[in-house]
Amino acid sequence: MSGNELEGRERGGVAWGDLIVEGRVSGQLYVDAEIFEAEMERIFHRGWVFVGHESEVASPGEFVTRRLGRAPVVMTRDDAGALRLFSNRCPHRGATICALEGGQSRYFRCPYHAWTFDSAGQLVSLPAEDGYGPSFDRSQFGLAPVPRVDSYRGFVFASWCPDGPTLLEHLGRSAQMIDRLCDLSPVGQIELRAGWLRHRIGANWKLAAENVCDFYHPPVTHASSGLVAGVPATYFSDVSGAVVRDLGGGHGEIDHRPMHARSTPRPAESYQGLRRRHLELLAERDGQVSAAARLQEGPPHGFVFPNLFIAELSIFVIEPVAVGDMTHRQTPIAWVGLPDELNRRNLRSFEGGFGPAGMVEPDDAAVWERLQLGLRAREPAWVVLQRGVGRDVDGVGRLLDETAMRGFWRHYRGLMAAGEATP
Ligand code: FES
Ligand code: FE
Repeated sequence: MSGNELEGRERGGVAWGDLIVEGRVSGQLYVDAEIFEAEMERIFHRGWVFVGHESEVASPGEFVTRRLGRAPVVMTRDDAGALRLFSNRCPHRGATICALEGGQSRYFRCPYHAWTFDSAGQLVSLPAEDGYGPSFDRSQFGLAPVPRVDSYRGFVFASWCPDGPTLLEHLGRSAQMIDRLCDLSPVGQIELRAGWLRHRIGANWKLAAENVCDFYHPPVTHASSGLVAGVPATYFSDVSGAVVRDLGGGHGEIDHRPMHARSTPRPAESYQGLRRRHLELLAERDGQVSAAARLQEGPPHGFVFPNLFIAELSIFVIEPVAVGDMTHRQTPIAWVGLPDELNRRNLRSFEGGFGPAGMVEPDDAAVWERLQLGLRAREPAWVVLQRGVGRDVDGVGRLLDETAMRGFWRHYRGLMAAGEATP
């Protein structure tokens, strides 16, 4: 199908089945502003979206501001210790009630006319209240709560839609990745307290989503960092033993466990003492054999649809801004119950990879912007995602295969086409 034919799609509806077929998708999906608007409604408004982690608002009054879809929200903890998620929108005339990235405050005071709300979202004061008349009821003008908020092992997700699948139904098999990450802590918890890097990238959000399980690109895009890190040539190859897995529901992972199971770990000398301590602490809970296996398998690498990347020792979040614009956030995780020195080590390696002078993130960002530019050319019409087609077994492909991307698009097509049927 040519670009012109795609452009000539039915008026009043997108023929999703013509844009997304097994092994290829239309380039229009990355550059069409109407499609982006439909995604915001059908995926980021109706569905579950990752917002943050409970540890970011550990004590009453702590807050962070985020986006849920494109809408600004505030996540905080009230005086009773309950997690709250509100529209960051003053019920009076609409100003955001909080402009900071995060902090601690018992009250949010709107900058326009000083309506003031407590951490439970209640309107607690406003100037010249008597002018609103005797029937004015403060309780009707609190901050609007996001209709559905739920968390899984501290990972907070939310949806603007009051009904639909439960969070556990949404997470499906991707919940196992969160389990694997948390269970590397002796107390089964991670925390996110290091703050976030934010990169504004001139590219469509789905390019970052697809990239999570694209192991075809690292030896090329990240060739220089691979050299510095001494990554063996066989690592990013179909014979490495690692596999790519379509987890269903748009989720996917790169699973290194089969590779690790057949190798002998040789941590750097300086790391061995820390690793031994990690093993001892895990063994107190799991026993020596299970703890050693857990450490050998390591943390997960995978995508939780539509916006969360669990990147081994860090968390990445995609925030769509416009069809060719996103914010990409990253933060290192810390395992609760481990020595500070070990968590600090994670922090330092995170800085080396993803900071402004990092060796990994800038490479990806530069390539995503080139993709966005190139995709503006209408010909050729298609993006090719067919590596491994026909040889996936139960959703599992070889490491360099585009298996998880095809799973992402299958789920995407289902969500978008279902939305099309709704008047
Ligand atoms: Fe917030 Fe008026 S807009 S107090
Ligand atoms: Fe990359």
